[in-house]
Amino acid sequence: MDSFEKDYFYNCADGIINAEIYQQLDGFIQHGETTVLQHSVSVAYYSYKIAKKLKLKCDFESLIRGALLHDFFLYDWHVYDKSHRLHGFKHAKTALKNADIHFNLNHTERDIIGKHMWPLNLRPPRYKESYLVWTADKYCSLIETTLRIFKSKKQFPQKLVYELIKPDK
Ligand SMILES: [Fe+2]
Ligand SMILES: [Fe+2]
Repeated sequence: MDSFEKDYFYNCADGIINAEIYQQLDGFIQHGETTVLQHSVSVAYYSYKIAKKLKLKCDFESLIRGALLHDFFLYDWHVYDKSHRLHGFKHAKTALKNADIHFNLNHTERDIIGKHMWPLNLRPPRYKESYLVWTADKYCSLIETTLRIFKSKKQFPQKLVYELIKPDK
């Protein structure tokens, strides 16, 4: 990402990434050693990067915001609890419900979050932004679960995650 793109990314992400409720995601593990916050920022980063690389015309702000909130389910799915059952099938709906409570979402952002687990959730995504996040989510999940094997941590934008969070927060 060049500095213009990085500033754009930050400006779109700022209101979400520095919200206190959002930073709770750093307390929950997603895959391997990666927290849900790290995973979500990585998915947003790669969604934006793929769209830029392919020179796609899309709503970049909704793309970044929707990606940041796609796993906003706010619990540790590794901890056994009745309400965490069928996490794979249910968490997109939970994330959308939570995101709707804490942030103002548009149609594209709602589609990105609510349909990112397609085809486990039967309704397919409607917008290209949703397919971009769907793709980046699968890519990041694969890298995160195999991180220890490939030892490729340095290539992953986790440093960016903490650069993006204001030091006073
Ligand atoms: Fe997810
Ligand atoms: Fe995800």
